Amino acid sequence: MLKNDLILRAARGQDVERTPVWLMRQAGRILPEYRKVREKAKDFVTFVKTPELAAEVTVQPVDILGVDAAIIFSDILVIPEAMGLPYKMIEAKGPFFEKTIKTEKEVEQLRVAAGEDLKYVTDAIKLAKKELNGRVPLIGFAGAPWTIFAYMIEGSGSKTFSQAKKMLYTNPKLSHSLLQKITDSTINYLNAQILAGADLIQIFDSWAGILSPEQYNEFSLQYISQICDAVTNVPKIVFAKDAFFARKEISKLKCDVIGLDWTMDIAESKMLIGNNKTLQGNADPCLLYSDLPTIKKETEKMLQAFGPKRHIANLGHGLYPDTDKEKVKFFVDTIKEFRF
Ligand code: CP3
Repeated sequence: MLKNDLILRAARGQDVERTPVWLMRQAGRILPEYRKVREKAKDFVTFVKTPELAAEVTVQPVDILGVDAAIIFSDILVIPEAMGLPYKMIEAKGPFFEKTIKTEKEVEQLRVAAGEDLKYVTDAIKLAKKELNGRVPLIGFAGAPWTIFAYMIEGSGSKTFSQAKKMLYTNPKLSHSLLQKITDSTINYLNAQILAGADLIQIFDSWAGILSPEQYNEFSLQYISQICDAVTNVPKIVFAKDAFFARKEISKLKCDVIGLDWTMDIAESKMLIGNNKTLQGNADPCLLYSDLPTIKKETEKMLQAFGPKRHIANLGHGLYPDTDKEKVKFFVDTIKEFRF
């Protein structure tokens, strides 16, 4: 039994006493406590693969920031690795894949990941659930197939992901077979997370915003839709960064919550999406660089705009690592103290 199920109730459209809050990248470098645990592992990938350490940093934001949910500490790139394409995390630069996908033969050689291939994540979930002891729900997650595809083709982060987009234009057949393989792997993975104890799940489509609306339907939404249909039993959050153009289409998915970034007008989003979905977001992470009165004023304005029902407060994307922890806490407290 959960002692605090505000996020689950908000996700399902039920009444809540106050707006619940969690933050993307809440388990991360903004916390000195995180950096300390991180030092115990020789690199990021090893860190993610050590369930005791992953579970420890998963719980930290609940203790330190007082958020209404924990999110399992991992990365979206564990899926390419489980499929046969390992990654490294290069300090201050980001993800790097030694091998990328170029040919149909290379797609054929990839495995469809099974839940057991990601036992280190499900073990971390079980440990984190035990440690949380019902205090707040635990969020599981995965990348959207398009975003995972983008890294598997490009091999690293990029402003344009032009290699990944080139593949959509030059070899749509390869693109679809790789996207399908990622989708099948992701369904297995999310179902394993739920079996291990995840109380709700979020799909991150971080690179949604670089596709045209037509490409987005063909190469991303179709696959997210398969995941939403196949992953049942827990509420699902779909967060497609910069996909303002797709809000109406996203609202047709079998998901419960839609994440908004700060470029999306709240009233307009409510109109486009309708009242059958809960909205999540959408403060600019850079708001947390400003002074306390500004943070309070802007946060309360956001809460008013979303209203008392069907809102989960969050940022519009992950916390930046140089954000002052005290300001993050102030943002969380402002939300928790606010009443309509
Ligand atoms: O607190 C949480 O949100 C849970 C943990 C989490 C991480 N990555 C840990 C992490 C989550 C949910 C992710 C998702 C993720 N990973 C996404 C989707 C969300 C988004 O931000 O759009 C993406 C695109 C990735 C891929 C990735 N991982 C990148 C581009 C980077 C480098 C950028 C950076 O901030 O350095 C990572 C590394 C990463 N994943 C870190 C953390 C805490 C930072 C590395 C470190 O601590 O050394």
